[in-house]
Order: sequence, then C-alpha cells, then structure tokens
Amino acid sequence: MTTRDTPEAAARTDFGARRDAWRAYTTSPWGRIRYAVVAHTLRHSLSGLDPADGGPGLRVLDVAGGDGLDALPLARAGHRVTVLDAAPDLLADAAAAAAESGVPLTCLEAGVDDLPTLGLPPFDVVLCHFLLHYRDDPAHTLALPAAAVRPGGLLSLTAPNQASEALVRAARLLDPAGALAALTETTQHGVTFAADTRWVDADETAQQLRHLGFDAVVRYGIRTVTDLVADDARKHEPAFYADLERLELALCDREPYVRTARMWQLVARRAARPSSGG
Ligand SMILES: C[S@@+](CC[C@H](N)C(=O)[O-])C[C@H]1O[C@@H](n2cnc3c(N)ncnc32)[C@H](O)[C@@H]1O
Repeated sequence: MTTRDTPEAAARTDFGARRDAWRAYTTSPWGRIRYAVVAHTLRHSLSGLDPADGGPGLRVLDVAGGDGLDALPLARAGHRVTVLDAAPDLLADAAAAAAESGVPLTCLEAGVDDLPTLGLPPFDVVLCHFLLHYRDDPAHTLALPAAAVRPGGLLSLTAPNQASEALVRAARLLDPAGALAALTETTQHGVTFAADTRWVDADETAQQLRHLGFDAVVRYGIRTVTDLVADDARKHEPAFYADLERLELALCDREPYVRTARMWQLVARRAARPSSGG
C-alpha cells in the first residue's frame, strides 16, 4: 500500500485489527439499515446502465470495499465485481462470504493510491464508500476512483454528514452545548475504527465531481431518522426494525431529509464524452 501522507487517519488506522468492532457495527440494526439503503439506491441507479463490453452484468469496482457488504448484493445480482482494499483480513471475509453465497467476487489487496498503476480497465460502476473522511486530502483521493469510471459510467461515494451531528447531539444525547460545538468542528472521533476523521462536505464533493467531468450528481441520505431515535433496544425488535427500514428507504431520496441524514451518498455519472471541465 502506498501512503502519500503517512500521518493521516487512514494510514494510522489498522482497519483489519478492528474487525470485531466493525462486525458488531455492520450487524447492528443501524448498520443493517445503512447497507439496506445503499443496496436500494444502487439498485435504482444501476437499473438503466448497460455493460460497455456487452458482457453479462456490469463491471463494478468497490474501492476500499472492506468485507464486501456493498459488493456482495451486486455480485449476487449477476454483476462482475472486484473489491479492492488495503486490509487483507477484511478482504478474506469478503471472499469467504462470496464463496458461501456461491457467487464470483474478485478480491484485490491494494491501496487506493495504487489505482493508477494497477493497469485495471475502466469500470461501468465504481464505489468508494466511507474512505474519503479517513484521508488528509479527500479531493485528491476522490480523483482516483473517479478516474476508474468509464465514460457514461457511475461513481458512488459516501461519507458521514456533518449536518446530522448537531441534531444527534441535541436530540439523542441531550447535549445542546455539544450540538453547538458540532457546528464548527472539523474532525470527529469514529468509535468503530478508533480514528479521528475529517468532515467531508457533500456539496463541495459534488462540485469537485463536476470538475472531474461528471455531469449528473444525485444526492441520497443514509439514515435520515434512525440516529435520532434514542431507544436503541426498540431497533432490535423485528417489527420496529422493519418499519424503520421501510421509512428510511422512503426518505433516502427526499428533500429536506437527505440534507440532514447521518451520512450522504452521491451517485454521479461520468459524461459520455470528456467535457472541458468547470
Ligand atoms: C469504514 S471502512 C468502509 C468499508 C466499506 N467501503 C463499507 O462501506 O462497508 C473503510 C475501509 O477503507 C479501507 N482503507 C483504508 N485506507 C485505505 C487505502 N489507503 N486504500 C484502500 N483501502 C483503504 C479499510 O481497510 C476499510 O476496509
């Protein structure tokens, strides 16, 4: 793995070592809702897209795809999916889950900075979910997965949303002073990977995507209400969970909820012909 800026959170963090904490998060009701929403938005976004090579299914690259939780539903849907990640333990989990499901999944141990030198052909769809905020230079990082998208293909990005932090601290944690402080903080501490990360703004990222030649950018909200419900025990009740997931799927593409959701997702289409930028 190449490390451009060794002091950054992504380089300091041993993602593989936090595998148990990661699994506890991904199997929690709020973790499951996060994956359900992204599976839903991707199903919708990919529905009109044809494979550039005419092959069976789209060619998909999941950059920093971890243990494959976004990649696996796409592989099960018949797409040809590659997961790239720097943590071999997480990749091994992705490979094991694919084998258990009986679906092909290509796993590639590499860093995002290695992308330009790996010699991969362009992909119909590239995902880069929850990596940018670990990086010192999210705009530089963003250009790497963006360059792997073929003209007319799609890029999906996600990151935590700063706008939700004040709401969560005030409404869920009953901490109005902390909520006020959240308005101007530039970093946050992530519990799962025990890392300090930076806030990455969705509107700025959308603007950067336009400069990189992406001509349609759609914003979604992941977990618009789940984190405001303080009673976590209720979320484990199957009927409550089912209602909550249905609500999240209904709100994920609606204003104003997308703007204050716990996390943002941008799905952008690369212009079919290279634009002059701007
Ligand atoms: C928060 S997890 C997200 C995993 C997955 N994208 C998801 O949303 O389920 C961050 C992932 O980024 C990976 N990662 C961190 N730095 C990386 C780098 N420089 N290159 C590739 N992967 C990296 C970690 O190993 C980890 O799997």
